Amino acid sequence: HELEWSLGEIEKGGYDHFMLKEIMEQPDALEDAMRGRVRPEDNQIHLGGLHGHWDQLREADRIVIAACGTSWHAGLVGEYLIESASRVPVEVEYASEFRYRDPVLREGDVVLVISQSGETADTLAAVREAHSKGIPCFGICNVVGSTIARETDAGVYLHAGPEIGVASTKAFTAQVTVLSMIALKLAEGRTLSKAELADNIRALAGVPDKVRRVLNASNGALQSMAHTYRYASNFLYLGRGYNFPVALEGALKLKEISYIHAEGYPAAEMKHGPIALIDRSMPVVFMAMKDSTYDKVLSNIEEVAAREGSVIAITDDKDAELESLCEAVVEIPQTKEFLSPLLTVIPLQLLSYHIAVLRGCHVDQPRNLAKSVTVE
Ligand code: G6P
Repeated sequence: HELEWSLGEIEKGGYDHFMLKEIMEQPDALEDAMRGRVRPEDNQIHLGGLHGHWDQLREADRIVIAACGTSWHAGLVGEYLIESASRVPVEVEYASEFRYRDPVLREGDVVLVISQSGETADTLAAVREAHSKGIPCFGICNVVGSTIARETDAGVYLHAGPEIGVASTKAFTAQVTVLSMIALKLAEGRTLSKAELADNIRALAGVPDKVRRVLNASNGALQSMAHTYRYASNFLYLGRGYNFPVALEGALKLKEISYIHAEGYPAAEMKHGPIALIDRSMPVVFMAMKDSTYDKVLSNIEEVAAREGSVIAITDDKDAELESLCEAVVEIPQTKEFLSPLLTVIPLQLLSYHIAVLRGCHVDQPRNLAKSVTVE
């Protein structure tokens, strides 16, 4: 009965919502974001949009990232990526705060703004603030020809394709992909040997396939988990290192579309407040990858389990110890630590989506939210 599809249904490609379509097309979106740019064949990262600016970035005294919402979360991942790759100090600012506090910007600083739409008023104002102080400003945008893309000095497009769902999904993973490319390019000849660079470029190129595996392997399980958690009124998301920003993003996705109150924290900060909230009715989602943060995360999980919180863990190594502490464990493929946000965020997107659908929410157009906030 394909002929009976309305235009809207055709645009959704057979999915019930744009958000689900956009979650599912992430493997393709990331391949598109990397096409011709991530080149394992000759061990190169090639980003034409920043050509001629690499030394400026490598030699910067400081890189200040400004963004809003989900793009700000991508910026936080970018801070970890760029600092470890280049040893250049990075600060991440909410564009709305940056623009109004007469930020200290000095010669040698570089501003980098991140915006899916390229039209967010506060982020655009951050570009203008940088320029008014004579500071170079680069952009990472999805929408070609958008105002921020036009006003920045140089930049990188995501090439992730149009994102219609108000809750950002594929733009986030494409932003983190672009930030990973930038980090690897900055690391070239600095913090990484040729062999290490080659290894990391191959790992990045392998991410879309792993995202595909996460989607195929976990969607069904997350849909059934959604039945268990749909009545929760609060959620906590915890992660460390590269997965701390993913915890923030997971919480944002849930509150945006399901209207369940959720908070993300760096896992260790749990002891400084959120642990007081934990009881039987409090689902706590942990990013528990077997990386440099695992042992610490595991002890945080033990603390939550001891208080009868229901732990949901996203891990790349489901062992008996972890399973004994958790109500649910979602296993995803292994990858390098710096690439793990690209995989760990996927189950969080799906969990939010399925919970919101079960709660009868308007997934693609949540109440009170706009796709692009072009007024203050
Ligand atoms: C709005 C959207 C979010 C988005 C944020 C920043 O709040 O609902 O999904 O992350 O704006 O948008 P931008 O287009 O600048 O990335």
